Amino acid sequence: MGTYRPDSSTLLADDSILEYVLETTVYPREHERVRELRLITQQHPLSFMGSSPDQMQFFSVLLKMMGAKNTIEVVAIDVSREYYELGRPVIEKAGVAHKVDFRAGDGLAVLDGMLDGAAGTFDFAYADADKLQYGGYHERLLRLVHVGGVIAYDNTLWGGSVAMPRDTPGSSEYDRVVRDYMLEFNAAVAADDRVEACVLPIADGVTLCRRVK
Ligand SMILES: C[S@@+](CC[C@H](N)C(=O)[O-])C[C@H]1O[C@@H](n2cnc3c(N)ncnc32)[C@H](O)[C@@H]1O
Repeated sequence: MGTYRPDSSTLLADDSILEYVLETTVYPREHERVRELRLITQQHPLSFMGSSPDQMQFFSVLLKMMGAKNTIEVVAIDVSREYYELGRPVIEKAGVAHKVDFRAGDGLAVLDGMLDGAAGTFDFAYADADKLQYGGYHERLLRLVHVGGVIAYDNTLWGGSVAMPRDTPGSSEYDRVVRDYMLEFNAAVAADDRVEACVLPIADGVTLCRRVK
């Protein structure tokens, strides 16, 4: 049986492997403003919620490979404005504030509001908001990205718990609820003929879905 990794930053067998990747490949080429944003975020008591830097580097490479221009992040859509405000000064200093259209509100409701007028216009979407709404995000994001566009879901292996018994020691009741949800979500994505999907064992598990119809 595998080891439950509730910290969500890596599913690698040992943290030293993640440190190796970060120190050799991620941090040396990290943009100065991205580093600033990362260091500010790390001071926050909820910093564990931040997506892993190696995963973000992967997205950066992927988006450039895709030539993606128009993207949605169900976090640039956020019920809380506080987290966006934390990073906004750095986004402004980087000169890219005009590219970020923050929408305060519930992810499902904001996505619903975008369907009229923006359907099929996005190249890439990233969902890392309410874990128990992934099925709802999927239906809406599939309409918002064009055929050939990509949707990424974070935390789909939930500390490895999807492959472990429900009562694995160290898991909370919330962990068990999310584990059960991810089991259903992962099965639904695997059977969804509108997408070509794969699961990457990076960070806490990332599912990529390429819209094919
Ligand atoms: C895991 S964090 C995202 C971290 C982000 N990927 C990063 O690297 O900084 C989850 C975010 O989802 C937001 N959230 C939770 N429920 C939401 C909902 N129903 N609609 C929109 N955002 C929600 C939280 O406020 C939080 O900012």
